[in-house]
Amino acid sequence: MEIERVSYPRPWSENVFRAEIDRVTTHADRYYVAATLGRRLVGYAGLLLAVDDAHVTNIAVSPAYRHHGVGARLLADLGAQARRRGMASMTLEVRVSNVGAQRLYESFGFETAGIRQKYYENVDDALVMWRYGIAEADFAAVLARHGVEVDR
Ligand SMILES: CC(C)(COP(=O)(O)OP(=O)(O)OC[C@H]1O[C@@H](n2cnc3c(N)ncnc32)[C@H](O)[C@@H]1OP(=O)(O)O)[C@@H](O)C(=O)NCCC(=O)NCCS
Repeated sequence: MEIERVSYPRPWSENVFRAEIDRVTTHADRYYVAATLGRRLVGYAGLLLAVDDAHVTNIAVSPAYRHHGVGARLLADLGAQARRRGMASMTLEVRVSNVGAQRLYESFGFETAGIRQKYYENVDDALVMWRYGIAEADFAAVLARHGVEVDR
């Protein structure tokens, strides 16, 4: 919750986290992963698994640990999970002003497909980004660059 609160203008509540994590077992349509350093939680990320598409629900890294590859490693782990679950694509929304996160997604081959106007707090626009072809070898190579090995 500490990381969440400093990461977003409208952080998820503890209840949202609990409901999301519950669905991992009750509906098997969510996946969550935590990044730890020793016993310290430094980041986390999650997926909503739809029919063919894996939707990134959240990805955040503790400010003190940013820019060390944790976010990329988390995204690579999500990518590997999405492949394992037979998904064809990944998608997400990102605030237009969040250029840092957009660079991260672009480095995984995400492309902007459109804009959702006033998506955040009924004020800020969101870019809708997609990464198609995640079952292909080129995506496996991106994951491997971040230390996540998958079958090609
Ligand atoms: C987005 C976020 C998860 C990135 O985590 P991170 O651990 O800092 O990311 P990484 O160190 O793995 O960065 C990987 C690459 O992404 C890009 N990137 C990440 N943050 C960036 C920034 N602020 N500015 C420019 N590029 C950035 C860079 O290309 C970077 O590679 P480099 O370090 O070799 O230059 C983190 O900034 C965060 O928690 N932000 C707040 C929550 C948020 O906005 N989440 C995304 C919601 S859509």
